[in-house]
Amino acid sequence: MLVYQDLLTGDELLSDSFRYTEIENGMLWEVEGKWVVQGAVEVNTGANPSAEGGDEEGVDDQAVKVVDIVDTFRLQEQPTFDKKAFVTYMKRFIKNLTAKLEGEQLESFKKHIEGATKYLLPKLKDSQFFVGESMHDDGCLVLAYYKDGATDPTFLYFAYALKEVKC
Ligand SMILES: *[C@@H]1O[C@H](CO)[C@@H](O)[C@H](O)[C@H]1NC(C)=O
Repeated sequence: MLVYQDLLTGDELLSDSFRYTEIENGMLWEVEGKWVVQGAVEVNTGANPSAEGGDEEGVDDQAVKVVDIVDTFRLQEQPTFDKKAFVTYMKRFIKNLTAKLEGEQLESFKKHIEGATKYLLPKLKDSQFFVGESMHDDGCLVLAYYKDGATDPTFLYFAYALKEVKC
């Protein structure tokens, strides 16, 4: 299995059990999240529940629903960013990441990260913002938003801020 860590903080942000699509010249990864029942285990005994009386009623009310990606990687939701705060964040993030990248990756990042930032700006007002578990100040932001009519969120990762680790 591959896990993807935040290159700057080492926090685990994603793994290859989630499929991603590259967008914006490979700068961003789009990943589909899903609302699930926390800790749900599929148990199908084949028994007819109505034959066992009403004791189990109300179980559904206690089920806690979580978004799989957030729950799996213990992503921490942050206060929202407006355009100004986001641009300020991006300046620092780009500086931090530029110092870590090399060669072709660095060239590509410098060429396309502005386009990717512009792609994100109109989405900010409808987005949720997450960072990794350590909540380090320089942590990479992960955005989530709902596409038109979608009931499950789409996550956006900064591809070049992810470090692939085998485990
Ligand atoms: C990011 O950049 C700031 C300011 O240049 C620096 O203080 C900080 O240590 C950097 N963080 C990382 C994780 O490289």
